[in-house]
Amino acid sequence: MPKPEKHVFVCTQSRPMGHPRSSCGEKKCAEIMEEFLWQVQQRELFNRFQVTATGCMGPCSEGPSVLVYPEGVMYGGVKKEDVATIFDEHLLEDKPVESLLVDKEFWS
Ligand code: FES
Repeated sequence: MPKPEKHVFVCTQSRPMGHPRSSCGEKKCAEIMEEFLWQVQQRELFNRFQVTATGCMGPCSEGPSVLVYPEGVMYGGVKKEDVATIFDEHLLEDKPVESLLVDKEFWS
């Protein structure tokens, strides 16, 4: 297996309804994961990018959360229609999508 150029982690954490931290599971993260997998398949990019479902990464209130390495770029509030933009601009052109970045204070 070739080393991926970028690794995309999609939070698929769920919590019980009413939990104080909420979760990406309440915000349709499953369809975000499916869309990333669909885009990889449709564009035949299996050898370049890896997509992995993961548990909570921290910014639950800003979910669905998506983390891209090696840059360590965290996206929040990702919608299904944003996934193609992340592919076009970040994964393929190395330009993180500024409008989807989580609050800068998250990494402080
Ligand atoms: S539940 Fe997704 S970042 Fe916490």
